[in-house]
Amino acid sequence: MKPPMNRCMGEIPWFLVPRLGRFTSRHFEYGTPLPIGLTGRQLLLTDPEDVFHVLVGNAANYSKSRKLTDERVRQRVGGGLLGRQGTSHHERRRSLQPLYSQRAVESLVHLIEEQCRPLLENWSNGEPRDLSRDMGRLSQRILLTALFGPLTENQIVTLEQAIRRRREYTEQVYFSPLPRCESWPTRRRRLDREAQALFAQHVRQGLQDLSAGRPSGDLLRGMTQISVGDGQQLSEADICDEVLSLMSTGHETITEWLTWCWVLLEQHPDFARSWRTELLRLGPITGWLGSPPETAPLTHGLLDESLRLYPPTWLFARVPLQADCLPSGTHVRAGQNLLLCQYLMHRHPGFFPDPERFDPTRFHNPEAQRLVGRVYFPFGAGPHRCIGDKLARLETLVVLVTIAREFTFDRSGTEPVIPHPGLTLGVRGGYWVQPRRDKLE
Ligand code: HEM
Repeated sequence: MKPPMNRCMGEIPWFLVPRLGRFTSRHFEYGTPLPIGLTGRQLLLTDPEDVFHVLVGNAANYSKSRKLTDERVRQRVGGGLLGRQGTSHHERRRSLQPLYSQRAVESLVHLIEEQCRPLLENWSNGEPRDLSRDMGRLSQRILLTALFGPLTENQIVTLEQAIRRRREYTEQVYFSPLPRCESWPTRRRRLDREAQALFAQHVRQGLQDLSAGRPSGDLLRGMTQISVGDGQQLSEADICDEVLSLMSTGHETITEWLTWCWVLLEQHPDFARSWRTELLRLGPITGWLGSPPETAPLTHGLLDESLRLYPPTWLFARVPLQADCLPSGTHVRAGQNLLLCQYLMHRHPGFFPDPERFDPTRFHNPEAQRLVGRVYFPFGAGPHRCIGDKLARLETLVVLVTIAREFTFDRSGTEPVIPHPGLTLGVRGGYWVQPRRDKLE
């Protein structure tokens, strides 16, 4: 692959500093691992070949973050795919794969469009809305309906609260500098347990409905139909685990992706106009959804470039099982925490000229595929690459297109839009806009 420019310098933006360690040097050189925090025991990898080695080349030697796989933590994330490793991960992943195939996720298009309807009907011209909140509620409703089928407003509100409580607890555990905080009997922990019990109750009810021939969600039905290693079906407990795993992964990331797409469209009005012209030319979404990206170059350019600039998963970790030497020559110890930061790698100036510039044509070049897994990995790479990437892409595309066919947005306020690096990369303080009805015809 093309060698990066010599001595490409990078800078950690100020809003990432509290997350990456206050005692970390702000400036770094791509290619040299950056020690993180006061002790410097954690390393932030900045060499594309090191990233590839850890995620793909020698993936068997690297486990996920202890915050996902530690036995104490399993109670929180459950035994679902997200927290699995090794053979048990491989088998479970192979069984679940058909649920998230292109064909399977395309069957959800109608459901996604339907869930957009209430938003489109309720927005009124000029009324200020926090678009990130609206996208959050929408993506939660899509996931909940895909899982459990039609729900009453009351059920949705209770499940939304449960999702929020799980997220608050996870965030507390994830960013706590204190070891073993997982086992402390805090209020948040209690609320998280209650939230888990609520999901278990919905799974039980959904399974009873299915066996009595009553309708339930496509995803839940799909989970009852897959067979695991020895030909057996997933048990109720297994399904609960996978549902909890989905609740941690399957909507907040999409919320952030959608929000950043709207931000970029507002910041680049010429592109936004050309994009809407493309949508007008393409006609109803079902006519072109499965076509190659070249059919809708601006739509796919927007999706890829927004993920580059604002990757919803902006940081994750790997831990070597055995000591190893990385391609950059760095020696890593068994058990050492290695951080991989998409936000910084996606701005590598050796691979993305003028990296801060929004350029939705960057990925049109066939060479771009070679960046994947090295300097561009919004969905991770290797054996743990996101299993929901097709679902995420389809949902984001359908929601964007459905909304853009009927509305445009004017930004309320002039203050800069600042990323908020939580578990996912959101917008600080929400993203306030005024919807304007503007039907494409
Ligand atoms: C924009 C949306 C999304 C982004 C940016 C994203 C990102 C990621 C990343 C970076 C990983 C790899 C983590 C690692 O290697 O440690 C991952 C794994 C995973 N994602 Fe996603 N994800 C998204 C949407 C989804 C959706 C919709 C689902 C639900 C179907 C999902 C389910 C998962 C699961 C279960 C894993 C663990 C896979 C494994 O270990 O085999 N994600 N995701």
